[in-house]
Order: sequence, then C-alpha cells, then structure tokens
Amino acid sequence: MTLNPPTQYADARNLRARQRLWLYQRPPFDIVGWVLDLAGLSPDLRVLDVGCGNGAYLRAMRDRHVRAVGCDLSVGMLQAASHPALLNADVVALPVRNASFGVVLAPHMLYHVPDRESAVRELRRVLVPGGVCIAVTNGAQHMRSLRDLVERAACEGTPGWEMRNPSTHAFSLENGAAQLAVAFESVTCVRPGRVAPVIIRDAAVAADYVASVADHYQDQVARPWQAVVADVRLAVQQVIEAEGTFITSSDTGAFVCR
Ligand SMILES: C[S@@+](CC[C@H](N)C(=O)[O-])C[C@H]1O[C@@H](n2cnc3c(N)ncnc32)[C@H](O)[C@@H]1O
Repeated sequence: MTLNPPTQYADARNLRARQRLWLYQRPPFDIVGWVLDLAGLSPDLRVLDVGCGNGAYLRAMRDRHVRAVGCDLSVGMLQAASHPALLNADVVALPVRNASFGVVLAPHMLYHVPDRESAVRELRRVLVPGGVCIAVTNGAQHMRSLRDLVERAACEGTPGWEMRNPSTHAFSLENGAAQLAVAFESVTCVRPGRVAPVIIRDAAVAADYVASVADHYQDQVARPWQAVVADVRLAVQQVIEAEGTFITSSDTGAFVCR
C-alpha cells in the first residue's frame, strides 16, 4: 500500500477534488465543526493542526477566534492553507517544545505516515498534561459503493484487486485505537450520530474523486488509471440515469486521546 506518494499533495488539487464530493452530503455534515466541538475549543487554548492540508480546520478555528498553528509536510499544501502561523514539518519530528499545545488535531493524516508510532509519540509529546488530541480517520465501509465500482473496473486487468485505502486499512476506525494507545492513556473512538449519504447527480464528481487517487493505485493495477476512471464515470452515469442519483456513504470518525 502506498501511504503518501510524493505527487499526491504537491498542491491542493487532489484534496480539493475529494472535498468537492463531500459537498453533496445530504443533509450537509460539517465534519470540521464536529471535530472542533469534540476538541472542546476555547479562545485561551493553543491548537496545533498537524497535516493541516489546505486549511479547512484553520479557517474554522479563525472563525471561532481560536489561536492555531498549522503544520504540514507539503509546502504546496501550506501555500493553499494561507494562514498566519504555519510550520513545514513532518509529524514524526515536530519543531515544537514539549507540552506546548492544549489541543492537537491530526485530521485524516496519520494513515499517510509510515512511522506511525513515532508520529503518535510526537503528538503526545507536544500536548500539555490534561490536553486532548483528536485523530480523524475512516472505517472499513467508507465509500463502499464507489470503491466497488473502482474495484470492478480495475479487476478487468488485475483480477481480485482490492482498493485498500490507507485510511480504511493502515490507520482506520477499526485498528487506530491500538496504534494511539502506545502514547495515550485513554483513547475513545467517536462516530457521528447520523451518517449523511453523499447524493450525486453529476458523474464527474465521482470520477474526479477517483482520478485524484491515481498515484496511490496506478502501480497496483494493470489498466491505465484513466481507463479505470472512465469506466467508473460510465457506471455512475448509468446508475444516475436508472435511479436519478448515485449514492455513497462516509464511514468517518475520530479518536479522542488523552
Ligand atoms: C488527507 S489530507 C488532510 C488535510 C486536512 N487535515 C483535512 O482534513 O482537510 C492529508 C494531509 O497530511 C499531510 N501529511 C502527510 N504526511 C505528513 C507528515 N508525515 N507530516 C505532516 N503532514 C503530513 C499531507 O501533506 C496532506 O496535506
């Protein structure tokens, strides 16, 4: 499994294609707000947002008047984040003193890190005693219906191939707690009460999502990834024509670590 191919986050285009799909959740689900509520933010707390990407959490924290520092391995993502306090660093070696932040966020990022144990220890090290770290990831059922279509298209050249996403296999809602427990005394998995489906009426939204992960999977499948994407687009279009919409669901949650 390729955890973090170097091209994936050279800039924000791939992440934006995936973020666009989530805009079609009905009713809309504000995952950023949900995670920030779990963290129990208040303006007197300092927050470190590790793997901040293009800054969705940083923007929401600015709106809540919370002082946050963003950190990301990719300079291109930091440019897209456009925030006054940013660090270009690897989570396994944070250039931050011990016990400096009351809240540490690691949203949808730990599954990209090969040395996850060092990463988890770093998240703990920079947290003040009594602070909280929130790590967000996905579960085994994440986008199952869309992954089924990708697998069907890819299996034409690579029989039996499974779309093993880092977020549903390497560090998932099912196996993440044990990985976090190496450094945290208490780890609680929390899932949103009601999971809103993604309801798509434009096949391009699903196709763009699949295209955005080409560099994760191209070396595992025989067919060119563009051919897989074209088949997925056609299959989604057929469902839309037959049923009016194509529906897929998120299986996302968070670990609250103390
Ligand atoms: C899926 S994006 C999530 C972005 C943001 N947290 C969000 O949820 O919108 C993963 C981010 O983690 C960053 N990343 C991957 N490996 C990292 C590492 N070892 N240290 C710091 N950031 C990393 C990537 O560059 C990318 O911006």
